[in-house]
Amino acid sequence: MRVAMIGSGYVGLVSGACFADFGHVVTCVDKNPERVTALKRGEIPIYEPGLEELVATNVRANRLSFTTELAPAVADAEAVFIAVGTPSRRGDGHADLTFVHEAAREIAMALNGFTVVVTKSTVPVGTGDEVERIIREARPDADFAVASNPEFLREGAAISDFKRPDRIVIGFDDPRAKEPMEELYRPLYLNQPPILFTARRTSELIKYAANAFLATKITFINEVADLCEKVGADVQDVARGIGLDNRIGSKFLHAGPGYGGSCFPKDTQALIRTAQEAGAPMRIVESVAAANEVRKRRMAEKVMEACGGSVTGKTIAVLGLAFKPNTDDMREAPSLTIIPVLESLGARVRAFDPEAMAQARPLLGDVEFCEDPYACAKGADALVILTEWDAFRALDMARIKQELREPVVVDMRNIYRPADMRKRGFRYVSIGRRSSVRSLWLLC
Ligand SMILES: NC(=O)c1ccc[n+]([C@@H]2O[C@H](COP(=O)([O-])OP(=O)(O)OC[C@H]3O[C@@H](n4cnc5c(N)ncnc54)[C@H](O)[C@@H]3O)[C@@H](O)[C@H]2O)c1
Repeated sequence: MRVAMIGSGYVGLVSGACFADFGHVVTCVDKNPERVTALKRGEIPIYEPGLEELVATNVRANRLSFTTELAPAVADAEAVFIAVGTPSRRGDGHADLTFVHEAAREIAMALNGFTVVVTKSTVPVGTGDEVERIIREARPDADFAVASNPEFLREGAAISDFKRPDRIVIGFDDPRAKEPMEELYRPLYLNQPPILFTARRTSELIKYAANAFLATKITFINEVADLCEKVGADVQDVARGIGLDNRIGSKFLHAGPGYGGSCFPKDTQALIRTAQEAGAPMRIVESVAAANEVRKRRMAEKVMEACGGSVTGKTIAVLGLAFKPNTDDMREAPSLTIIPVLESLGARVRAFDPEAMAQARPLLGDVEFCEDPYACAKGADALVILTEWDAFRALDMARIKQELREPVVVDMRNIYRPADMRKRGFRYVSIGRRSSVRSLWLLC
């Protein structure tokens, strides 16, 4: 099939490259000329494992190309995907649909022959209706159907998620959308992923409900971690103990500094707004969003407590800036809350991240960026692990201890063992384990 992918960011680029790899002919469109020029040169503007090779292979096979020109790509396509950003609207938390509506207007003008227009962006219930209205108003003569096909890929594992999804959700009200959507995903049938065909509004809501549920799971275990610290229990064991129950499941039960990223914060907010306006408020999700905000700030206090009650005049070394490993995405990363709070408390912050420093630099103006974890630790009063990159899982701790001025490690991802770290002579603080600050100071 011939496909136009409007928006070549994390989702558009990965989806476009994967559809091309299935054998479809895909044109990825982006209105950012630098992004397109870089892609044409074979440079991938985001960090995503395996993406560079996948793009190169499919460009060589003439199945994947890049352009800023939306009209010819759409005119030629049987399916047009909208994969543009839907950030939080400033002030009210609603999803900002400016890019989606703009794309719909541009698509309308270029439609040629029967075309399925598919929203892959995460969009609130009813957006498909609005996209349909915009297109129909602009081009009453156009022959098209609007479908919803939310994307569930995770950054850092995006290609395998796209190619081996847990499920594919396809929503439409016009039955003519079904066949082309089936054809697009047919190459996946060998693996037989469940495909859920449903109404368009239901499909739109599935994406928000999924993200809100996952955010709830993370926040739940984070609160259990806080309780563990108070009562002397171990959150890792609690998570394992409950996660082994099939009804609960072990994923998304890792306590940490609070969720971030380009999806959970904005999608929980958008769902809260939709639910409030529909007169069916989602109190659980409201609590989750509020608890997560408070938590990120509280993490800065945890560092302060580990440093003996104050960080004023101290140097804090931070390992990991991206919101999770294997991505350079800094959107809503906990580091963007925690580091400024530490700075406002009088700390100087140094940081290292294997991939996200270029993205982080303009966002964290006062931070000194370092070459590697050891340079980062040099002369610092505490080392804080904020993102669980593999590269941080097996640090030479003897060397880290030598580099640090004070042997304090705050591990917000629980990647080290408290007993090991204590044996090595560190004052070690983690999340929801017996190394909690209070017991630590008692031990000291
Ligand atoms: N990032 C993820 O992990 C993820 C996962 C699932 C769903 N989503 C959803 O997918 C959507 C896209 O997210 P993303 O992370 O890829 O965003 P992104 O910001 O990385 O990419 C969006 C791209 O769209 C381009 N764009 C905007 N308007 C355009 C237009 N009219 N024509 C052509 N290009 C245009 C922008 O220049 C940008 O490059 C969002 O709704 C997001 O919630 C994201």
